[in-house]
Amino acid sequence: MKNIIISGTPGCGKTSVAKEISNLIKTKIISLNELAISDEFSFEYDKERKTYIVDFEIFLPYIINRIEDIKQESLPYLIVESHFSDIIPEKFIDYVFILRCDPDELFKRLEKKNYDKKKITENIQAEILGNCVNYFIQKQIKAPIFEINTTNTNIETVARTIVKIVVENNNGENYKIGKVDWLEKLFEENRLKEFFG
Ligand SMILES: Nc1ncnc2c1ncn2[C@@H]1O[C@H](COP(=O)(O)OP(=O)(O)OP(=O)(O)O)[C@@H](O)[C@H]1O
Ligand SMILES: [Mg+2]
Repeated sequence: MKNIIISGTPGCGKTSVAKEISNLIKTKIISLNELAISDEFSFEYDKERKTYIVDFEIFLPYIINRIEDIKQESLPYLIVESHFSDIIPEKFIDYVFILRCDPDELFKRLEKKNYDKKKITENIQAEILGNCVNYFIQKQIKAPIFEINTTNTNIETVARTIVKIVVENNNGENYKIGKVDWLEKLFEENRLKEFFG
């Protein structure tokens, strides 16, 4: 079984793309966010940041057990998706796809999701700084890491791009990490102040 990890800032389309991939190939999906906010693992709700605080000491072993169980089902693929999917240990990672989104478009998507202003700013800053990418770089894993710019690409096309790389062994040269850089783009446009105050 090949494990496909999908990461990216909230709103980049991880859940939508994972679902679309499951229409194209035989795979199960583990959505870490949905599991993490269940009563079993969230021991506190941070009202100010509107975020659940997860007890990773019990959450991670639970996820690993779940991956091991799915492995027994002899499925060809498993997708683990979340903006914190970097918690997955290297031995369970075969491919990493980090979805990226232009800050202006991300703003629209998060507004549509009814995120409040503070939460939108926090997430857009994380996207500009490439936090999700950095977490995986720091892990120094052997598995290939790809970045897909979803800004002007529909969900189906993003899903097909991932399937091509994973199933058809396309080397994904155009999607190797390091090609998406909002920081440089905004710096050139003299717009950094707009996002970092
Ligand atoms: N490629 C895309 N083009 C246009 N809209 C998109 C695209 N991908 C996702 N969206 C839209 O953006 C919104 C967020 O998508 P989605 O919930 O899949 O993101 P997510 O990364 O799973 O977010 P979260 O981390 O909060 O779970 C949805 O309204 C979805 O329809
Ligand atoms: Mg999601």
